[in-house]
Amino acid sequence: MELTEAMTTTGTCRRFDPREVPPEVLHGAFDVARFGPQGGNRQAVRWLVVREAQLKERLQELYLRHWEPYYARIQEGQVRVGGGDRMLVAADEFAHSLAQVPVLVVICARTEDLQVTDSDTDRVSVVGGASIYPLVQNLCLALRDREVATAMTTLVCREEPAVRELLGIPDEYLTAGMLAVGYPARNFPTKLKRLPVEEVVFSDRFGKGLFGTGRAT
Ligand SMILES: Cc1cc2nc3c(=O)[nH]c(=O)nc-3n(C[C@H](O)[C@H](O)[C@H](O)COP(=O)(O)O)c2cc1C
Repeated sequence: MELTEAMTTTGTCRRFDPREVPPEVLHGAFDVARFGPQGGNRQAVRWLVVREAQLKERLQELYLRHWEPYYARIQEGQVRVGGGDRMLVAADEFAHSLAQVPVLVVICARTEDLQVTDSDTDRVSVVGGASIYPLVQNLCLALRDREVATAMTTLVCREEPAVRELLGIPDEYLTAGMLAVGYPARNFPTKLKRLPVEEVVFSDRFGKGLFGTGRAT
């Protein structure tokens, strides 16, 4: 698949076909995903591929503990999300059928190997994630190239001690998210909804559009 097509059609899949993803397909995708950039090339990321039914059921339970109050807050208008009602209904159905997704990949990273250069600033720390999420997106693209769909989630990070115990994750590793993986029940999207390039690329001063009017906030 051509790279631009993969980048513009790797959307979030919330309805999966029950078909198993063959090990050689997973191997091929992980094998190319590992070439993502990372601070100091410390290679902190480990992928935990969960396929056992009982483990997936427990992960769904842990996810729902946080999804349900979050969903309620969205419905009450307390949390703003970009998608419409259809997306929300799909996300709720997805949450309640997570255990049926063929593969759940728990993303782990060795805390010590993340180059967290902003942990002592007075804003939220994000730099550690920069050694993790490029690899995750690489994995999504590599799977898309193999006609396999994905959905990124992070709610189980709130249940890290329980996830750690369930899956035997050592203390020196943190959990950075959980990727749902499988063949899509329907076609891949042809176009994802994102802000136009004119509004998000600035020239020399924040808010002054490089390709158009720009948008300060
Ligand atoms: C950090 C992160 C966490 C996410 N968590 C969830 C989630 O818990 N449940 C869900 O259905 N989708 C989740 N998503 C998917 C987003 O909702 C999705 O990327 C966004 O709505 C854009 O839709 P698209 O990817 O289909 O274009 C998450 C995505 C990211 C990057």
